[in-house]
Amino acid sequence: MCGIIGYVGKQPAASFIVEGLKRLEYRGYDSTGVAVVAEGRISVVKKIGRVAQLEQELAKRPLAGTFGMGHTRWATHGGVTDANAHPHVSSDGKIVLIHNGVIENYASMKTFLLGKGYTFQSETDTEVLGNLIAYHYAKAAESGEENRCLASVRKALRHTEGTYGIVVMCVDFPGEMVAARKGSPLIIGLGDGENIVASDVSAIVARTQSVVYLKDGEIVHLSAQEFRITTLGQSAVAPLVDRVTWSVAAAEMGAYAHFMEKEIFEQPTALENAMRGRFSEDGSTANFGGLNVSAGEFRSMESFAFCACGTALHACRVAEHMIERFARLPVECDYASEFRYRNSPLFRNTLYFVMSQSGETIDTLAALREAKRKGYKVLAVTNGVGSSIAREADGGIYQHVGPEIGVASTKAFTSQLLIGSMLALYLARMRDMSFSDGVTFVKALKGAPDLVRQALGQAPLIKAIARRYAHVRDMLFLGRLSLFPIALEGALKLKEISYVHAEGYPAAEMKHGPIALITEECPSVFFAPSGEILNKIISSMQEIKARKGPIIAIVTASVELPAGLADEIIVIPECHEAVLPIVASIPVQLLSYYIAVERGCDVDKPRNLAKSVTVE
Ligand code: G6P
Repeated sequence: MCGIIGYVGKQPAASFIVEGLKRLEYRGYDSTGVAVVAEGRISVVKKIGRVAQLEQELAKRPLAGTFGMGHTRWATHGGVTDANAHPHVSSDGKIVLIHNGVIENYASMKTFLLGKGYTFQSETDTEVLGNLIAYHYAKAAESGEENRCLASVRKALRHTEGTYGIVVMCVDFPGEMVAARKGSPLIIGLGDGENIVASDVSAIVARTQSVVYLKDGEIVHLSAQEFRITTLGQSAVAPLVDRVTWSVAAAEMGAYAHFMEKEIFEQPTALENAMRGRFSEDGSTANFGGLNVSAGEFRSMESFAFCACGTALHACRVAEHMIERFARLPVECDYASEFRYRNSPLFRNTLYFVMSQSGETIDTLAALREAKRKGYKVLAVTNGVGSSIAREADGGIYQHVGPEIGVASTKAFTSQLLIGSMLALYLARMRDMSFSDGVTFVKALKGAPDLVRQALGQAPLIKAIARRYAHVRDMLFLGRLSLFPIALEGALKLKEISYVHAEGYPAAEMKHGPIALITEECPSVFFAPSGEILNKIISSMQEIKARKGPIIAIVTASVELPAGLADEIIVIPECHEAVLPIVASIPVQLLSYYIAVERGCDVDKPRNLAKSVTVE
């Protein structure tokens, strides 16, 4: 939800900011803009469209200067127009700012500011905040207050309700930048004679790997040489400098056509990274370093609860299946956005998990806070090192899959599935699972990267299938047990990147509604692995076939379907139950990807979506 970057240093600001915006574009991409403060002037170039279009505009109207900021927007308040694009300049021309988040009390602020003579060019909440900062700045200037840029931001934020990550500059103080956060991520990149503020590290790794993660309620005041963090209440904060462990190459596409394609094919390595060092020496269970919950506490838990959004929620649903199946413990799984308001009754000895690739999804963060408020321990499964969720959780498990740039989650998802299975193993081994079953389970998990490699080998076949079905308007994804959430995920993947209407259903439940959609033009993707209920799945396939619905079957190697039942067959290797959802995810990721490419869609930046949803 909006990517922001601010720069103070000695290099030309605009070109660096544009490079940063390209890396932040996954956060929002309906409009972009850059502002530079130089020679007593704030100069802004902003327009609807992608960063590439902004770059063309900047070639015609270059912005010279070494202090500046840039923004890539995902619209909340106000439509997608040039005027609503950020940066916004206050009506007195003093203050320029960019913002990620939602100012909830903007209407009352605006009424107040209109009464004071401020005017507005846009429909955004951001411009209101900019004018409120300008109002406090003017008052501070009158009274000759020290540090008035910082002081005016602080005063304005004390009256601000909602969420924000902001970067502010003042025309009178070129070379100074103020940034603050509440609910929207911000990091500080510490360079050599330059400092940077950005929504995430991908925008700064080309220049520096030294970062400070700003916390909610903190303000940072920076120049090219120094930075100082304080709280809204003016207490000094001692900064903790971290090192980013991945390099800029990890956030580049290389020889692939899209980030999504790259990330699909990276999955064997991503899984290896997610499990590295996480098995016990005797090879019979999983080990996690950062849980901060003792084995005894884990043992005493009567139930588990998972909250997440989007793809991560589907991973939670698989974790639910695995923990119930192997550890025989009850698990609740909920949309984070619902949990936070549902006030559901909870068992006393429940351990909470939130899952979030980015670690910044606002609904998931709010669910975490709600569970903590109720006195529960909350652990996080996240890929976002140093993210808000990672910091606020009592402990957790990092996914360690490197940056995921494609908006549609792939490698992060399968690593979440892996971690869910590892958790199930850890809990099961504390209870009824024998040593030898544990060893078998661990061996199966260690074999997952190779099985995924084999499944990826079906890419040419899946590409050909995608060509045959790319024109359809509807598609069903049907699976049972641990593959029901993978059916949900397959449908989500297809609709989000190719705009084909798709639904995921438990295969047998399909006859209670979705079967009405079946025609020759509505294919069904069936998961049909070997196992006890294969015959039941085949019966569901027959019901679709009887209504002339095309069938794309994803079967495990030993399955033989009745002749002529499936129109297309994709074979994946036989595998342990704990690994099956991971391997079965590969064909549906590839199918969605190739259909989207065939339809000419913008795979990495699907319309209306953003990768990190930091507004409610
Ligand atoms: C957005 C993205 C999804 C993602 C979801 C949750 O909707 O488009 O791909 O699954 O947010 O994101 P998180 O970072 O919390 O896993």
